[in-house]
Amino acid sequence: MVVTTERHGKTGLIVVDNPPVNALSQAVRSGILEAVQTLDADPEIDVIALLAEGRTFIAGADIREFSAPPSEPLLPAVAAAIVGSATPVVCVIHGTALGGGFEMALASHARVALAGAKVGLPETTLGIIPGAGGTQRAPRLAGIVATADLVISGKPISAGEALKKGLVDRVVEGTPREAALAAAEAVRDGSLATRRTDALPPAEPAPDEIAGWRAELAARPGTFALEQAVSALEASSGPIEDGLATERLLFETCRASPERAARVHIFFAEREASKVPELKRAEPRPIARVGVIGGGTMGAGIAAACLLSGYDVTMVERDDEGAARGRATVEGVLDGSVKRGRLSADKRANMAFSAGSDFADLADCDLVIEAAFEDMAVKKELFGRLGEVARADAVLATNTSYLDVDEIAAASGRAGDVVGLHFFSPAYVMKLLEVVVGEKTAPDVVATAFTVAKRLGKIAVWSGVGDGFIGNRIFLAYRRTADIMMEDGASPYDIDRALVAWGLPMGPYQAADFAGQDIGWATRKRRAATRDPNERYVAIADKVCERGWFGRKTGRGFYLYPEGAKSGVPDPEVLALIEEERRAKGIVPRNFTDEEIVNRILCTMVNEGARAVDAGVARQASDVDVVMVNGYGFPRFRGGPMKAADIAGLPGILDDLKRFAADDATAFAPARLIEECVAAGRPLV
Ligand code: 3HC
Repeated sequence: MVVTTERHGKTGLIVVDNPPVNALSQAVRSGILEAVQTLDADPEIDVIALLAEGRTFIAGADIREFSAPPSEPLLPAVAAAIVGSATPVVCVIHGTALGGGFEMALASHARVALAGAKVGLPETTLGIIPGAGGTQRAPRLAGIVATADLVISGKPISAGEALKKGLVDRVVEGTPREAALAAAEAVRDGSLATRRTDALPPAEPAPDEIAGWRAELAARPGTFALEQAVSALEASSGPIEDGLATERLLFETCRASPERAARVHIFFAEREASKVPELKRAEPRPIARVGVIGGGTMGAGIAAACLLSGYDVTMVERDDEGAARGRATVEGVLDGSVKRGRLSADKRANMAFSAGSDFADLADCDLVIEAAFEDMAVKKELFGRLGEVARADAVLATNTSYLDVDEIAAASGRAGDVVGLHFFSPAYVMKLLEVVVGEKTAPDVVATAFTVAKRLGKIAVWSGVGDGFIGNRIFLAYRRTADIMMEDGASPYDIDRALVAWGLPMGPYQAADFAGQDIGWATRKRRAATRDPNERYVAIADKVCERGWFGRKTGRGFYLYPEGAKSGVPDPEVLALIEEERRAKGIVPRNFTDEEIVNRILCTMVNEGARAVDAGVARQASDVDVVMVNGYGFPRFRGGPMKAADIAGLPGILDDLKRFAADDATAFAPARLIEECVAAGRPLV
């Protein structure tokens, strides 16, 4: 029984109990509908309260049901039954009342929230819009602009904020059941007013704001659901029946869209990524004190992330000067968090953080994360020392982004304790963490890594050892394809523009200029010795670097950055340099359409992602999507490269791969996984 009714004197309780988050599955919908009808028909009952068991009130529609045809009763009918109940219905919110859950509250005749509860309409983050009256009833209570804040950002607000906006009527203490019984009494004695949201006047029109949102949304890709949401909100200033009908129509349009499929996919993929077998097989080691080797951007970022999540941190640098610099960077991050209200001054003052140059300080750490210079010799030397200094039960992690974790692990003399923790910069902001599992990494070390990641608020993805793990492996392949297109005739500006229009936040050359090209150049020089001499190599970026044009920080890179300019402008000298390279190699430039640019890049990413799965570096294709969306800015509304390929049609992608492979097998010779999926008629994810 996912929905039960209880009678407490004249109060009828409707209790939803559908763990883990009380999602509105078909059984819950029909249970609530039936319960409202039964209690409303009961002459002994004069107030009904809707509440939920467990950690949260209803967190929304059951997202798993979205890809199947809708089954009765639909959510709007449940909301209509609540609104239409002659017996007043009070909704009691705890945890997070999201989407359809909050819509059940909006349909109720009064809303009581427990302190600490949150409410929100996050549907657009899943590529849909509120579909059970959220865009019509919330504006009647709080206005179009306040509702748009919820719907467009998708972010929940606190019970206190919801009270201020008129979206809840009361914030109370206690358990949901206590609050429900007290609220029923308050309705009875008249101290808690009840009203039918649908009987309130339509929302005040907001034509200027609506025009503003439309203009802003039209300028960026991936906003289909948001645009429909704005139209639905606009309808809230008309009669309720019309508004509800418009909302439903727009909801159904969104439900059938590729954006919905992509966004729901990535929602579940992110949760799947952390379900690694090691967590079932082994107990994580307890971690309280984290050691960080290196106080540069990465080390300091990792230290800050750990401190912000409640770990004690010991940072060790080569010398006192480095330690002082590292300490200052960490403190800057912490001060910024206090300023932004994300960290209380009290917590800040009580953090246990030390920075010094004595390696022996790492001896009492439960986990040590090495974030030193990206050089195998340096790392091996450090792990050699770490193997001796660290406690026998400590976990030893390297933040390398490319190097062989097995080789680093061997240097420690205790490879079972070693794991890769590949953070992304800035480490206290970026959600992704690649957990690189070496050949000898012990299962409890992997379990520890995933447990720490969770506490850090990261989305952790299991990766095997392989050049660049999952993300950088794909990034390298993608950049190589872009470079080849550049040499063959597309300008860097064409490539960036096409990819940004497709949804990437930056193209590869904007990204290189932004990050500073010297870093990539140093990596390329390091890798030159091991490069396959028969493989095509494009040296244009090296030529740009040779001139000292490293990007934004030097005023020019692939782009020029004139004083005060917000973004780079094309540089004729870079175009001339590219022309020169083409001439030297005897390449006659050809035209690339935006479509071909995007297609070659997507094919490269999908193929390399599939190769990572073939090689056992990625556990599953959906993990590739999680990495690319959370670490590399791949558009969430496309679901990641693997899902984008499924949506585009995998057989077509395979045909393109075979065609492109004729002149570039390195990038395009099809991965086994793609061939197998097409042969079996199944998608990649
Ligand atoms: N439907 C189905 N399953 C859901 C779900 C939902 N709405 N929300 C969460 N789950 C599942 C998760 O997949 C996960 O399952 P798993 O344990 O098998 O992996 C489990 O519930 C727990 O979820 P989390 O790991 O995310 O738990 P947290 O405690 O970290 O977060 C949460 C809880 C804040 C509720 C978060 O799960 C969340 O944001 N959920 C989505 C909420 C949402 O978007 N609601 C709107 C849905 S659309 C809608 O309502 C349409 C309507 O307008 C018609």
